[in-house]
Amino acid sequence: YFETFGCQMNVADSDRMELLLFHSGYIRTHLRDDADLILINTCSIREKAEQKVMSLLGQIQPLKNINPDMMIGLTGCLAQQEGERIARKFPGLDLVLGPDAIENVAQAIEVAKTSKPLVWTEFDSAREYSIPNMQDNRYQGPSAFVNIIKGCDKFCSFCIVPFTRGREKSRDADEIYREAAQKIANGAREIILLGQNVNSYGKRGLTKPTQFHELLRRVASVPGIERMRFTTSHPMDFTAETISAYHDLDVLMNHLHLPVQCGSNRILERMRRGHSADHYLKLIDDLKTAVPNISLSTDIIVGFPGETDEEFRKTLTLMEYVEFDNSFMFAYSPRPGTPASEIEDDVPEKVKSERLQETIKLQKSLTERNGKRYIGRNVEIMVEDATNRNGADFRGRTPQYWMVYLKGGKGIVKPGDRVKVQVEEARGHSFIGFYRN
Ligand code: SAH
Ligand code: SF4
Ligand code: F3S
Repeated sequence: YFETFGCQMNVADSDRMELLLFHSGYIRTHLRDDADLILINTCSIREKAEQKVMSLLGQIQPLKNINPDMMIGLTGCLAQQEGERIARKFPGLDLVLGPDAIENVAQAIEVAKTSKPLVWTEFDSAREYSIPNMQDNRYQGPSAFVNIIKGCDKFCSFCIVPFTRGREKSRDADEIYREAAQKIANGAREIILLGQNVNSYGKRGLTKPTQFHELLRRVASVPGIERMRFTTSHPMDFTAETISAYHDLDVLMNHLHLPVQCGSNRILERMRRGHSADHYLKLIDDLKTAVPNISLSTDIIVGFPGETDEEFRKTLTLMEYVEFDNSFMFAYSPRPGTPASEIEDDVPEKVKSERLQETIKLQKSLTERNGKRYIGRNVEIMVEDATNRNGADFRGRTPQYWMVYLKGGKGIVKPGDRVKVQVEEARGHSFIGFYRN
């Protein structure tokens, strides 16, 4: 049984563990009470993420009283951050594995059966980054993740990721191609390339040099692939060649998630993002010129230490200029061991929360404004699954990553199909519409 928190990389890691454990004779259950092995794949990006895991551990530990043979493992970023400490705090834990131990999950469980807790938080810095291709017949829906790079070397001053995921390393392009091809052969139609900073692909760890835009072209050539996306991007490493890829590759969808964090140059510098607001805006202008219908989304942090009201306003101005379709907005949360946590967290919680509300309000109005442009128009979606939310029968995403609730098509439409929908109504970052084919 898996509980997965955090970003898509954790989703991909849980999926990999499922496959590795399947080959060792385990079968996944979706019922916690049935499980004799519970793996909690954790995130520690903000304090709230950490608290969620702590309270889940508190709930799960007592299950051992009912089933003493049950094992509990903690994996992922919080496991890496806490190591021995969390094993002492929760004596019910059998294993604590950092992200670099994932390939060895089956062996780790065997060891933990006789000597618990097993804590494995070493980074294997000498080894190249490889997720060896292995037999996998699973169909897990029309959209599939493929890891292309691990770790992060950017060390933004607020961020825990470089400490929890270690140094940046790229994965061999042939291995990536084979995994993408396997997933398409198993029925997926869309491949989402993953990494904390995908644009840095090819800088470190490859024996056969490949750049990110070359990798995009390679994966786009997988037979049967219909859609391709990537996440997450960093403005510093985003190249003109990648912009051209949007233009040239039909399967590369017109959406880009490009975190900016804030609009003030002084705060960007203190965040050690390595670029100015102007650099970001220039990139956006170039993108919009080359790919006129590109959809943009971002991440925003409000209340970074020292952020004045005037500096915060610059974030709002930037958001308005770019007209993001969607933003993920957060109040700054100090993380242990990061450089920013050494400076005083001096923006009062109340101010942070007011600023957060203001960005949310602005984003809502931008989303609404952008959404209106689609009303009455036909869009193409790739159907993800059946649903009865919003009075719909199915849902799926447009190339621009808007979620569409589709009415009609019962008995005709199935997951993975690309169908036309006439947009009737916009609700937040979703549309409701009618089946048109
Ligand atoms: N690698 C991606 C983002 C990883 S974390 C990138 O560089 O853009 C996802 C988002 O969480 C970040 O973009 C940031 O907006 C937010 N985040 C990270 N650390 C945070 C912190 N200490 N407090 C609040 N938000 C944080
Ligand atoms: Fe964190 Fe910055 Fe790396 Fe993104 S680029 S994971 S925000 S250190
Ligand atoms: Fe969280 Fe680790 Fe991802 S901290 S956001 S799970 S890389």
